[in-house]
Amino acid sequence: MTRSDFPLCRVDDLKEGQARGFDPLQRGKDSVFALMHEGQVRIYRNSCPHLDVRLEYRKDRFLSADGRLIVCYAHGAQFLPQTGECVYGPCLGQKLDALPWRLEEGWVVLQMPVATAMSGSVEVSRLAIHRIPTRD
Ligand code: FES
Repeated sequence: MTRSDFPLCRVDDLKEGQARGFDPLQRGKDSVFALMHEGQVRIYRNSCPHLDVRLEYRKDRFLSADGRLIVCYAHGAQFLPQTGECVYGPCLGQKLDALPWRLEEGWVVLQMPVATAMSGSVEVSRLAIHRIPTRD
């Protein structure tokens, strides 16, 4: 298994206290989200450890009103932005899946495992971003 790169956005586009969802696999739903917390970029798979549903209640709304916590709007679980650990709610102590990334010429580049298909074409591994059920 190797890795595939997905440029998400310019690092300057991530603002402190805000988060942004991305659809790197182009499946019509944001399967990952990125945020800036205390000057550090964090990227997580957009799936709550409680019931494996997406966290946001609408586009890019992953954080509490004060921007200090990640919130799952299904049942109100709260997560620390720096570690993804749940500190309140039904999945207390569990963690969001942090994803690897790197900074390249000002771009935040998501690094995801890929599997090489028999035909020689490259397909993104379903292990990298699980099938994410929709709430709508
Ligand atoms: S699905 Fe996230 S708190 Fe229940």
